[in-house]
Amino acid sequence: MSDDRLVKAARDVEDVQYEAGLRPRTLNEYIGQDRIRENLHVSIEAAKQRGEALDHVLLYGPPGLGKTTLATVIANELGVAIRPTAGPVIEKPGDLAAMLTNLQAREVLFIDEIHRMAPAIEEILYPAMEDYELDIVIGQGPSARSVKVPVQRFTLIGATTRTGLLTSPLRARFGIVHRLDFYNEHDILEIVIRSARILGVAIEIEAAREIARRSRGTPRVANRLLRRVRDYAQVRADGRITLDVAARALELLEVDGHGFDEVDRRLLRTIIDKFNGGPVGVASLAAALSEERDALEDIYEPFLIQIGFLDRTPRGRVATAKAYEYFGLPPVERDPRLW
Ligand code: ADE
Repeated sequence: MSDDRLVKAARDVEDVQYEAGLRPRTLNEYIGQDRIRENLHVSIEAAKQRGEALDHVLLYGPPGLGKTTLATVIANELGVAIRPTAGPVIEKPGDLAAMLTNLQAREVLFIDEIHRMAPAIEEILYPAMEDYELDIVIGQGPSARSVKVPVQRFTLIGATTRTGLLTSPLRARFGIVHRLDFYNEHDILEIVIRSARILGVAIEIEAAREIARRSRGTPRVANRLLRRVRDYAQVRADGRITLDVAARALELLEVDGHGFDEVDRRLLRTIIDKFNGGPVGVASLAAALSEERDALEDIYEPFLIQIGFLDRTPRGRVATAKAYEYFGLPPVERDPRLW
């Protein structure tokens, strides 16, 4: 693992630990994603009334928007246990078979990064999802035979950044599919205020708004910034987060007005400086930035596209006039036929 990745992995662990206390446990506590909440409420109530397992659920969208949180909320609302795992950690088909056979009726099996499951393991899931049984091959060669092992009626919740990464047979087996989108500023503001209350820190509304504005529509980022600003308030002020304290803390953290980090700025600058504003293919862009293509597509691009700094065209990525303006540069005249 490169140093860069190690740092990111460490940050993720930290996020998970401190976020545990901030995460909502019920649909009522969950802020934002209103349409998804409403849809899930109906599906969950219907399954409960019928005494059935909830249909399998696929949640997708950029990292930090609450896919894991929502999976836990669904299990809580169903009143069942959640058994969490992740695509890359399931090494052998037997590992998954063991998890499936240990599930009690209506329990939730949560597979994070489900697109990273090996094909041989994925195949175990098909009959389990569809018919609640496993096809297990016993022995080898001519004497090999297949036995069917029943599993309880369970709910699989899969999480992934993009559905396009899933094979179509797997995707087709989910009855409930929801895409999580970036949160609007109002919802992020509510999340910051709720989290501050849980952390027991006093915060001015204008300070909370400032943190929300720089959180890239992402609760995980909002909660991380809030915690850092709380540290600053404790050490450099009297512990209360006023607008002035928040502004100074965010400046020290080098979080700018859009919540951009160094990779966001480098990505835009590279398109502008090295590729004359684009269009540039994602593979060339990833190579120029020494970043992984998946990280660009899953983590950085969605937000830059959402706020209108980047366009994804059939010929590649293009920096928009807004991006030029952000860097104080005059926009380039582009021939629209080249897009
Ligand atoms: N903390 C993180 N995500 C949240 C959400 N969607 N609602 C409330 N609190 C949260």
